Amino acid sequence: MSVKVSNITKNYGKQLALDQVSVEIPTGEIVGLLGPNGAGKSTLMKIITCFLPPTSGTVLVNDFDINENPVEVRRLVGYLPENNPLYTEMYVKEYLKFTAGLHKLDNIPAKVSRMIELTGLGPEQHKLIGQLSKGYRQRVGIAQALIHDPSVLILDEPTSGLDPNQLLEIRSLIKEVGAKKTVLFSTHIMQEVEALCSRVIIINKGKVIANEATANLNNLVRDKSIYHVEFSAPVTKQELQKLGGLQTAKLTSGNLWEITSATEIDLRPILFDFAVKNKVTILSMQRDQQSVEQIFQWLTK
Ligand SMILES: Nc1ncnc2c1ncn2[C@@H]1O[C@H](COP(=O)(O)OP(=O)(O)O)[C@@H](O)[C@H]1O
Ligand SMILES: [Mg+2]
Repeated sequence: MSVKVSNITKNYGKQLALDQVSVEIPTGEIVGLLGPNGAGKSTLMKIITCFLPPTSGTVLVNDFDINENPVEVRRLVGYLPENNPLYTEMYVKEYLKFTAGLHKLDNIPAKVSRMIELTGLGPEQHKLIGQLSKGYRQRVGIAQALIHDPSVLILDEPTSGLDPNQLLEIRSLIKEVGAKKTVLFSTHIMQEVEALCSRVIIINKGKVIANEATANLNNLVRDKSIYHVEFSAPVTKQELQKLGGLQTAKLTSGNLWEITSATEIDLRPILFDFAVKNKVTILSMQRDQQSVEQIFQWLTK
């Protein structure tokens, strides 16, 4: 195991941010850490990267203990903090040289050039960080996280605030660098987990509530679909609730209903039958995957 988190608890004063968290991140995998705001994702990442001591518990990174061997752990781990704090008055190359210096690396110019190439910063390498777009700033953040060639990469919301093109670019960069490393990254976006991760850990209110291979999570999502159905005329909630496999029905506007299924049953044919029997027409019907937040809602019920 690259990263073994054991019984980590973190209190900020009276605020319990992590509650007995134990998870393992297998070597060479890209693992997604999902959770709503305030779940404890950043706190867990700060603890793994030795930026914050836990209240109790420990983490082993390649068998080095964060409490006993923080220097070795920092050498093994690259970290992109949330909101990617950068020195905007520094030039890209200057900044990367500076971070390489913090790691006391030798052969710094060659390592900086290698990072610029790897993260696609070539065309922007002579600019001030403050002049870069958000996507390129993220590349700088990822480059500084990788400069000492860590075996474990911790990325705290690396794609948040990016436009759709930048998002795809950063995702493919994560995939590329993740091929040779163990990666833990946090996100709110379910598709991102599906696109990148072999495993997903979901935390809520400081507790791990799911730790699944991505394939299994897909089932979980598919099993709990939401349907947006617009009927041509009013129907009643009582009638809808008689349908087998239906969990909830909520009138959102006009004759538009939001319906959730209780099981993996596909409700679409059932809803069509219902419409026929009740002599109404379905004007539109859309089946959505549940959002992360909705998965939370029923995982934490
Ligand atoms: N420095 C701090 N002092 C007090 N409370 C904090 C501090 N940092 C985080 N918290 C609280 O700890 C909880 C977890 O925060 P965080 O780890 O940032 O969650 P996430 O990254 O999942 O949004 C939240 O309730 C947050 O308000
Ligand atoms: Mg956070």
